[in-house]
This record gives sequence, structure tokens and C-alpha cells, in this order.
Amino acid sequence: MSVPPKVPPPKSESHQRELRISIKCPDWKQVARLASLNAGPGGIFVNTPAIGSGVELQVELPNGNKLKFTGQVQRVLSAERAKAENRSPGLAIRLGPEHEAQLRRAAEEGSSTSPKAPTTRKKHPEGPVASAIGIDFGTTYTSVSAAVGSWVMVLPDEAGRTLQPSLVAFPEGEPPCVGWKARQVLVQDPRRAVSSIKRIMGRKFSDPSVAGLLQQAAYRSSRGSNDSIVIEIDNKTHQVVEICALIIGRAREIAEKYLHTKVKKAVFTVPVGFGQSERDALRRAAQIAQLEVLEIFDEPLAGALAYGTGQKKNEVIAVYDFGGGTFDFSVLDIVHDNFRVCGTKGDPWLGGDDFDLAIANSVADQFWRSHQVELRQRAIEWQRLLLACERVKRNLSSAESAELVIEGIVDSPTPMDIRQTIARSQFEALCKELLERSLAACTETLDALKLAPSDLTDVVVMGGVSRIPFVKNGVGRYFERELVQTVNPEEAVALGAGLRAAQCVSHPVEGIASIATSE
Ligand SMILES: Nc1ncnc2c1ncn2[C@@H]1O[C@H](COP(=O)(O)OP(=O)(O)OP(=O)(O)O)[C@@H](O)[C@H]1O
Ligand SMILES: [Mg+2]
Repeated sequence: MSVPPKVPPPKSESHQRELRISIKCPDWKQVARLASLNAGPGGIFVNTPAIGSGVELQVELPNGNKLKFTGQVQRVLSAERAKAENRSPGLAIRLGPEHEAQLRRAAEEGSSTSPKAPTTRKKHPEGPVASAIGIDFGTTYTSVSAAVGSWVMVLPDEAGRTLQPSLVAFPEGEPPCVGWKARQVLVQDPRRAVSSIKRIMGRKFSDPSVAGLLQQAAYRSSRGSNDSIVIEIDNKTHQVVEICALIIGRAREIAEKYLHTKVKKAVFTVPVGFGQSERDALRRAAQIAQLEVLEIFDEPLAGALAYGTGQKKNEVIAVYDFGGGTFDFSVLDIVHDNFRVCGTKGDPWLGGDDFDLAIANSVADQFWRSHQVELRQRAIEWQRLLLACERVKRNLSSAESAELVIEGIVDSPTPMDIRQTIARSQFEALCKELLERSLAACTETLDALKLAPSDLTDVVVMGGVSRIPFVKNGVGRYFERELVQTVNPEEAVALGAGLRAAQCVSHPVEGIASIATSE
């Protein structure tokens, strides 16, 4: 910030919740990413505000546009600590994504001369493509990436979407479908769709941890040879690896269409906690999808690569990855570009799905109290409710409340609807324990390594769940710092897989390309 901000001194504790700060801004990105307001002489007069407290920002852009936003205090560097560390005191404020978009629009309006932020990203890469792709086979979304020219990018599908739901569906009388098409089937008839297959990949039917998931699913399942899990839809049986292969095959198809070439090799990423049988299952699925596995790479390593950590210095970094089905916390030691996982703690049963489940359970409890109908015992209705809860959860990342409406969820003895407004605070109360479980895993890992959060050079945050404001803020508070989150949190692993794939086939890479993403 070139112009020192003016901040009226807060008069009381309650005023701290509504700090007012005005900034003149040479570059919108500086405000949008992280408005780090340095306290220059006579600049900032703020008693240390509580992390997470609301801040009102009044921004004047070079094109004369003035905007007002609300953000949250994410990090505070007090004058004393700054002096001790030979840094400038300051206040870091994070804006919500909707404010970032608003700011971008305002900055671009009527101003072709507005200064551009320095970027290491290439917009539309061209040139020879790497002969291997990277695949992030996620519990809820799968993405594929590759180096195009000397830039690695997540490859979009025909509709420009970079994330594909990890879903396979078997519509009546038609061939199986994958991704967004399967999502349509899931909405209409959940009995024909298989979701979260990664959670049961390589596991045994008798594994007690898969019983809950199989019971909850709208499809039937049974024990196959060697205690494998067999999925039954329309009296046809499907092996788990075959279903995984369809998802991987779709990723390959997207890559081939975008790159206009046949793809035969891939690097895959997996959670650190994946054992031999899960890795073997992935290899078999890749083989069915006609892909040679160049390497199975740990997801945190891939994420760290995508963030460009460890390029120049020796670092100890942490990767907090909260995905759709798995939570992983890893501490990496990076010495001259060599990455080593020195500690990790994962929970394969903790992910975004559980946030949906927490909302759905609370709605189902209420539905039972009002109608004496148990939605959890009706597989189709339950799947519809879970889908709607996922939407609510996403909406609550950018709004203070969200509507949950499912018309005719039950049609007998009389048609019944669900109509509920869910407040962000309600959602946070329902899911607080999930955040705490993730932080307990961080404590356990750090304690085992005899490290304190302050020993970490950086904390990289990834996975779609990290978009939830109370998760992001809670993690920031825990590590007492600004978190590193510069690429789309759902795309970091795929980008790292693409970088690794390029390395494996000696394809030179300059950096990561950014393209407009949409789902
Ligand atoms: N804006 C958002 N607000 C809240 N949750 C979100 C948002 N965007 C995505 N999610 C959630 O993030 C999860 C998906 O994240 P991600 O794509 O990182 O997981 P994944 O890679 O499929 O799973 P995993 O890494 O566990 O195998 C889903 O539960 C999704 O609902
Ligand atoms: Mg993931």
C-alpha cells in the first residue's frame, strides 16, 4: 500500500468489531489477495483487533471508483513483535471471493491503463504438449492437468469446466456415464449413481470402516471374491476398480480432446495414508483405462509443488489439505528442491462430505420431529437431501444464510417439502467439531515432530473445504499466520501432478498457467 491508511482509534471492545479503514489503492490485487496495511508514521491507530473481527474497507481505485467492503482481520503483527522480528507492523485483512470479484470489476471498468499485478502465470499457453498427464483422482472431484508449451494447466472439458464430479452412473438402457452427466442421473435417481468411490477403493467388504458408507448408499453392495466390494445396480455387478477406471478414462478423454493427441502415461496423486492395496487398486484402474502409471505421488507433495514452495530456500512447510472425503496434514522438509514428508496425519473419513452430512442430519432430525418420517432410512430421499445440503454449504461460504428447499421430498401419505433457512452461525455450530478434529491432527503431527506452529516457514492450505470461512479463519488462528493459498484450492494437487508428469518425461516447465475456471 503506498498510502498510509487512516484508522480511527477504536473506542471500545465492540468498536473493534467494526474497524473502518480507508485505502487508496494502486493495484486492486493487493487489496483483493490480502490487504496488508503497513503502519507507517502516523498511519495506523488500531489496538490489536481480534483475529476474525470484521473490518470495513473503503477503497479508492486509480480509475476513481470507490468501493466499500467488509473483510476479516486475518493476522496482526503488533509493533513490539514487528520490532523484534525487524519487520513492519501491520494488519492483514482477507476479503471474501465475492468482494474480490467486485473489486476486479471496479478496477477494470473504464480503465485500460489500470496497473496489472505481476503474474507468473500464463493465460493461454501454446506449444508442444508433454507426453504425460497428471490426474488428481479426488473423492468428490477429479481433475487432469498437463504441460502445454512450458506451462502446466488444469485441462478444461468441452464446457470449460476443470473439475469433474467423481461420479459414475448407470442410466437405464444406456451405457454408463461419468462426471457431470452422472451428476444429472444422481439428482434424478440416486440408486443408479456411485459417488465417493475413492473412499472404498482397495478396501475389503469386511472392513468395518466401509460398512457405514455402503449402508448409506442408495445402491446395493455385496461381498465379491477375495472379500472385495461389489456394487449392484439393476442386477448388474460392478467391481470398484472398474468404476474408478471409468472416472480415470473420462479424465484421459478430456486431456486427449484438449491436447488433440493420444495420452498413454500419467502421474496419479493419492493421500499419504493410502496403503499398498489402495495403490494397487489405483494401478489396476489406470490399466483398465489404458494409462501407464509413471508414478503415484503423494497429494501434499503435489500441492506443495504447485505452490512453488521450496524453490530457493530450505524450508519446513505444512500442508493442510481438507478435501471432499479426506483430511491430510503433512509437514514437509524441503532442501534444495528435494521434498520429504517428515510427518503426516490423515483421516480418510473426514472431508467436505461430513459437513454435508452434519447439515443433513440436523434437517432429518427436525423432519422427524415435524412429520415422524425418518429420511435416513429412505436412501433416495437421503441422497437428495445430501445433495441439497452440499449446495447450502457452498452458498454459506459467501452468504450469511442459505435456503434449503426440497419440494416433495416425501410424497406419501401426503406430499411433504423441506423449506428451511440455514444461518452461517448454525452451520458453524454443527460443523465446529469437524474443524477441531482437523486441528487435533495438526497438533498431533507437530507434537510428534517436536515442532511449534511458529517453526513452519509456510502453511499451505488446499482442498475445497478450505473455502469455508470459519475453517480458513480457524486454521489461520491456529497457525497464527497468513496462510498460503494462491492457486484454486481444488486445483493445487492436479497442478502438482501435472508438474510431476512433465518432470517425469523431461518436458521443460516455466510455471503454472491460469485459466478461467468454472464448474
Ligand atoms: N465454496 C465452497 N464452500 C464450501 N465447500 C466447498 C466449496 N467449494 C468446494 N467445496 C467442498 O470441497 C469438497 C471438494 O474439495 P476437493 O475437490 O478438494 O476434494 P477432492 O479432491 O474431491 O477430495 P479428496 O482430496 O478428499 O479426495 C466438497 O465437499 C465440496 O462441497
Ligand atoms: Mg483432493
